[in-house]
Amino acid sequence: MVWTVIPVIILAAISVPTVQRVFKYTECAPDAYHVDVIGHQWWFEYYYPEADVWTANELVIPTNQEVCLTMESEDVLHNFWIPKLNGKRYLVPGQETTLLMLADDEGEYFGHCAEFCGLSHARMRMRVIAVSPADFDQWLVDQAKPAVMPAEGTLAAEGLDVFNAQACASCHLVRGVSADTASNETLIGPELTHFNSRGSFAGSTLEHENPGELAMWLEDPPTWKPGSFMPNLNLTAEQIEALEAYLRSLD
Ligand code: CUA
Repeated sequence: MVWTVIPVIILAAISVPTVQRVFKYTECAPDAYHVDVIGHQWWFEYYYPEADVWTANELVIPTNQEVCLTMESEDVLHNFWIPKLNGKRYLVPGQETTLLMLADDEGEYFGHCAEFCGLSHARMRMRVIAVSPADFDQWLVDQAKPAVMPAEGTLAAEGLDVFNAQACASCHLVRGVSADTASNETLIGPELTHFNSRGSFAGSTLEHENPGELAMWLEDPPTWKPGSFMPNLNLTAEQIEALEAYLRSLD
């Protein structure tokens, strides 16, 4: 009796603070900075409501500030997991979940979708870029600007023509270029207004600094990301070169 009753009392006592703590980790503090996370097959989209800024793959956050992620999925179950910053949390279609994020140090924190979500689950990565609060404010100001227009006669200007002539503009928003009625809520691809300000693309699996990776991606996306909604547009080598020059100009 004694060996049973004493552990029961101990476990009952510690269950109270444990359960309280578990629920506390899903609650956002009143002064937390809010970012929406939207899961897609196979990339993560982020919306900063206070600044009206949209971006993809890389979640930029300020250091030493609690960040409250409100998460939802557009299609199937995904799971947001940046191991160094917090545990996992599901992104569920039609249901909001929350996750807290707090980075003490500046730097890049790598993550991966942690729920099998279809053919290219293995290509669904993300990273958190933690920067100083001052750099974060500047980043928001820069991201809110419309896209830089390429100078006439340049290769980038040719690339913009390719972008508009091909199906690119029907899935990707570029502010200042896309129709005023275009919105990230209805378009299925990531916003590209500041594409070149990010370090990675294609579900954060390819790097801007690696030569040839952007051209490889534009040539045939489903080879790299099976099932990708970005189709092979059968672009010529010249079109790819121009498109790459245009995308590189989107700082
Ligand atoms: Cu999304 Cu696995």
